[in-house]
Amino acid sequence: MQATHYLLAMGAPDPTPTGWVGRDAAVVWHGFTQMAAYPDNRPVIVERAEGRELIDTDGRRYLDAISSLWVTTLGHGVPELDEALRNQLNRVAHSTLLGHGNRIVIELAEALAPRLGMDRPHLLFASDGAAAVEQALKIAFQYWTNQGITGRTRYLAFGGAYHGDTIGALSVGAGGFGTDVYDPLRFDVVRAPGFDDPTAIPVACQLIARHADSLAAVIVEPLVQGAAGMAVRPPSEFAALGAACRRHDVLLICDEVAVGFGRTGTLFASEQCGLAPDLMALGKGITGGYLALSATAANERVYSAFLGEDLGPNTLYHGHSYSGNALAAAVALRHLQLIDEWAVLDNVAERSAQLADLLAARVTKLASVSEVRQQGLMVGIELDPPTDGLRWGRTVSAACVDAGVLIRPLGDVIVLMPMLTSTPEEIERIVDVVATSIEATCAGQS
Ligand SMILES: Cc1ncc(COP(=O)(O)O)c(C=O)c1O
Repeated sequence: MQATHYLLAMGAPDPTPTGWVGRDAAVVWHGFTQMAAYPDNRPVIVERAEGRELIDTDGRRYLDAISSLWVTTLGHGVPELDEALRNQLNRVAHSTLLGHGNRIVIELAEALAPRLGMDRPHLLFASDGAAAVEQALKIAFQYWTNQGITGRTRYLAFGGAYHGDTIGALSVGAGGFGTDVYDPLRFDVVRAPGFDDPTAIPVACQLIARHADSLAAVIVEPLVQGAAGMAVRPPSEFAALGAACRRHDVLLICDEVAVGFGRTGTLFASEQCGLAPDLMALGKGITGGYLALSATAANERVYSAFLGEDLGPNTLYHGHSYSGNALAAAVALRHLQLIDEWAVLDNVAERSAQLADLLAARVTKLASVSEVRQQGLMVGIELDPPTDGLRWGRTVSAACVDAGVLIRPLGDVIVLMPMLTSTPEEIERIVDVVATSIEATCAGQS
């Protein structure tokens, strides 16, 4: 029996009985999506992909200009990644990392460790960015208790921050996106200003000095606060943050989930910022967008505080069932090699410069655009609606999708997150479609 017919028999709503959207809405609950409005918002139902294009169930093609929510780096269906996955399938798909090891995971950790800019890191694997952040928060907390130091129970985080949607990650995040409903569940943090405020880093340094005795760690998205609509601080400002953490003996967690793996021009943004964190959260692009994998890297100082007797209290009593999934690790290892073999960072530098020029020529000057923020291949175009409630972000994005370029906004910020292997023609097409869609939408609605 087809899913739709089964659901009709069960009395479920049936917006488009025979279409994929109706079948989808009948059984799938989409994240950060109002499901009552979902079918009317003309969602794209992807069936397959080629290169940097997604192809829907009707055969229509969309240039994936959001890298499938910022995860896809090299493209969809990369033969080398497919092959790495198949080879690993012939060995083993998954085996637990709780108390045992797996060869491909060791090889991945060996390849990643020297690239992180950290002192002798050990990697604790998980599956999502939020889980990597959650692990970092718990490790930072236990680092102090393992040494018999009490009272180091708080975190300093930034305004506008987003670190994922589990309760700990949500707590260090600054709220928004409708998540305020969870406020009663969030723990309190010391909050520095967001990156839209030029005093963000100096104020954070003052707060570190003031609250050092109670801080377990500082958590920061180095260089770019992605979910804040690409709020950027210059790399030169971050050294002071690292220095303040060292001076006041507070751990530093760099959340590289969004900015890692080449997105901002260097393999990791911490590198540009001159930060050598104690803990680093990795996710999203780690497998090139193929499979769910994340990791928390801990430097030697942190890791060694967990060593002790077998089954003793210093142990990290934390670990997920799919930690270090072998298929994901195989793809992640090949992906890391391809970033070097294909000189991907050179393309990021060239395409970011091209993108900056095109945005300056076509988008920044539009009356309905208040600001364009860019770092590498991360762009936020802030629209300037004359009144609230016009939903310009959604309308502009829908126009882009109609024109075959997949965009998803953050409120009234149009996000561009082209893949790291994008061609000059694809960058031109993205800017052209976005500029035209902004002009058309804003002319019609203001
Ligand atoms: C900086 C940052 N940290 C953590 C996360 C959470 O990652 P995930 O959605 O994989 O849980 C995100 C997601 O956008 C992010 O941008």
